[in-house]
Amino acid sequence: MLDNPLNMTGRTILVSGASSGLGRGIAQVLAGLGARVVVHGRDLPRINETLATLPGAGHIGTVFDLANYDGIGEWVADLVGEVGALDGIVHSAGILTVAPVKVLSSRILGSMTDVNVHAAISLARALRVPAHRTSQASIVFISSVMAFAGTAGQVAYSATKGALVALTRSMAMEFAKEGIRVNCIAPGAVQTEMVFKYKRTVPVDQMKALEARHPLGFGTPEDIGYAAAYLMARTGKWITGSTLVVDGGYLAQ
Ligand SMILES: NC(=O)c1ccc[n+]([C@@H]2O[C@H](COP(=O)([O-])OP(=O)(O)OC[C@H]3O[C@@H](n4cnc5c(N)ncnc54)[C@H](OP(=O)(O)O)[C@@H]3O)[C@@H](O)[C@H]2O)c1
Repeated sequence: MLDNPLNMTGRTILVSGASSGLGRGIAQVLAGLGARVVVHGRDLPRINETLATLPGAGHIGTVFDLANYDGIGEWVADLVGEVGALDGIVHSAGILTVAPVKVLSSRILGSMTDVNVHAAISLARALRVPAHRTSQASIVFISSVMAFAGTAGQVAYSATKGALVALTRSMAMEFAKEGIRVNCIAPGAVQTEMVFKYKRTVPVDQMKALEARHPLGFGTPEDIGYAAAYLMARTGKWITGSTLVVDGGYLAQ
């Protein structure tokens, strides 16, 4: 019998943005496969809600505002002091602000870039420190189909999510000699708080059209959790620099 290559027993994974949506679903799948999960967010009650749903033992919560990306190194060092070396980071925390170009201020662009891009790079830098990681460490960034397809009002969001796809390739090249794999997931629309907020900013018809553009319908956080597990676990050991599209068929049209 084949040992289950998705088994993550004994691995410790930090999931950013796990107080909600995709991050919560990713944390649940990884914990279900045996990993110990460090559940990150800003909102402690919602972090605790995630922790309460996780199977297995040893999971912990951590609060940190990733907009303070220069403080990420110190925060991760403290976390490692508490939980030991990490086997990986999934960076799911992200912001989507709908802003057509005519109102796209540097403040809006800056806040999205801080969390979606700067924090991603700072998290990767922190994981790369030898004392912070095990020999099988890997990184997964959560991008979006908006890296590849356009939608009015999402110029800044597309820019930040496209940056993740591009930086994944170069980072994979830089980190390969240390055995650290770097991959990305580009999800289509998944029913989360982010999509509920988006729904409130666009006409009903636009939302119906968005759903119709997903031949398999909207996704669930668990769908993205399975993809993250595949990339992080032994199943992904020869995969680096890749972006896995998980979108119910959105980009196939
Ligand atoms: N939902 C979709 O359809 C979809 C599709 C493609 C890609 N994505 C991407 O998937 C990721 C997760 O999205 P989601 O739908 O799960 O969104 P969500 O439900 O709104 O959750 C966003 C998460 O990011 C965290 N976060 C936001 N700003 C933060 C900051 N400054 N510091 C620390 N944490 C911060 C939030 O933490 P707190 O709530 O605790 O503050 C929350 O846990 C994002 O990167 C998004 O771009 C989503």
